[in-house]
Amino acid sequence: MPRPVFAERVSRFGTTVFSEFSALAAKHGAVNLGQGFPDFDGPEAVKEAAQRAIRDGINQYAMGVGAKDLRQAIAEHALRFHGQTVDPDTMVTVTSGATEAILDVLLGLVNPGDEVVAFEPFYDSYDANVAFLGATSRYVPLRPPDAAHATWWFDRDEVRAAFGPRTRLLILNTPHNPTGKVFTREELEFLGGLCAEHGAWVLSDEVYEHLVFAPARHLRPATLPVFADRTVTVSSAGKSFSLTGWKVGWVIAPPPLRDAVQRAHQFVTFATASPLQAAVATALRLPDSYFEDLARLYLGKRERLLAGLREAGLPVHTPEGSYFILADIARHGFADDVAFCRHLVTEVGVAAIPPSVFYSPEHRHLGQGMARFAFCKTDAVLDEASKRLRARLAPAR
Ligand SMILES: Cc1ncc(COP(=O)(O)O)c(C=O)c1O
Repeated sequence: MPRPVFAERVSRFGTTVFSEFSALAAKHGAVNLGQGFPDFDGPEAVKEAAQRAIRDGINQYAMGVGAKDLRQAIAEHALRFHGQTVDPDTMVTVTSGATEAILDVLLGLVNPGDEVVAFEPFYDSYDANVAFLGATSRYVPLRPPDAAHATWWFDRDEVRAAFGPRTRLLILNTPHNPTGKVFTREELEFLGGLCAEHGAWVLSDEVYEHLVFAPARHLRPATLPVFADRTVTVSSAGKSFSLTGWKVGWVIAPPPLRDAVQRAHQFVTFATASPLQAAVATALRLPDSYFEDLARLYLGKRERLLAGLREAGLPVHTPEGSYFILADIARHGFADDVAFCRHLVTEVGVAAIPPSVFYSPEHRHLGQGMARFAFCKTDAVLDEASKRLRARLAPAR
């Protein structure tokens, strides 16, 4: 018998749904609202700072924990926007995007056999990384808005039931991809209380921290007393500065937790691209007006796509944050979200993502009545998508 090529830890993964739908979008000339990256560029001053850094010879390995000036800028930014006091020397590690940070946190804090609690739908790397470690994910589904709930919500008993003696860590993601939920203080305090009761650490993924729409307000869990000593905050430059290809991220954590993450980071990538670190320090120090303009820009895009989807007969959940909209497709008569999205890309000419892939098999049905549309696109692209949907999507039954 020839040996299987794939190691067991990767053999259950296919290619991601993003690759499949991007390939289909290209083949059918579809407008791509599937992948979550902007089709416009980041600030000129930041791009120039990167070019300057390269010219000035900032081209060798950075310090493993991250360039000193960037760590200082991360601390200044955390104080300015979240009122969080951060020691740049003992509480920060710079990583290659939030993606690396998530792996480092799990490698540094979770043992094989431990359990990790997370909400569904989830960002797909959580599930894969927990599996890499030989740990187990315990999922709690977020529930869509209904008569009793204005926004996405969770059942407290379901969360309580997911925690147990083997719980090691809770993964939070606020603002949340793909629902756009922004967790409230009350919800966070409940979750923090459970973590305290079970001695669990918290990974708080806040890559959409600047994409929040009033009246929702982003609250950094680590600034609440119940989370302060147990939370690793993860963020990155990708979404806040429309520079997803740079892959510069970071963790902020109390020194012992930062050290655990750092031990993993030193053998995962060791260090992150030096000239880009210099430029992200410039980005984090942009004036308040930059961040206000960004949120305003995305609010306009959210409204534009919400209107387009509604006009095409798709009921929508209005996101409080992030740059994704979940639309309700249940009444369109397709077997599931994958069938709907295949039809959309091949016949309507618009690519969206079927969100059932962000659920565990047990709860997959909860995602099968929705499609995820990204609005981090130029207005012309959003308008073209809306036009195609209006013209070519058959009305719901
Ligand atoms: C919730 C969430 N976390 C992490 C990431 C990855 O961020 P980065 O590009 O900085 O690795 C993404 C990217 O889409 C995301 O949506």
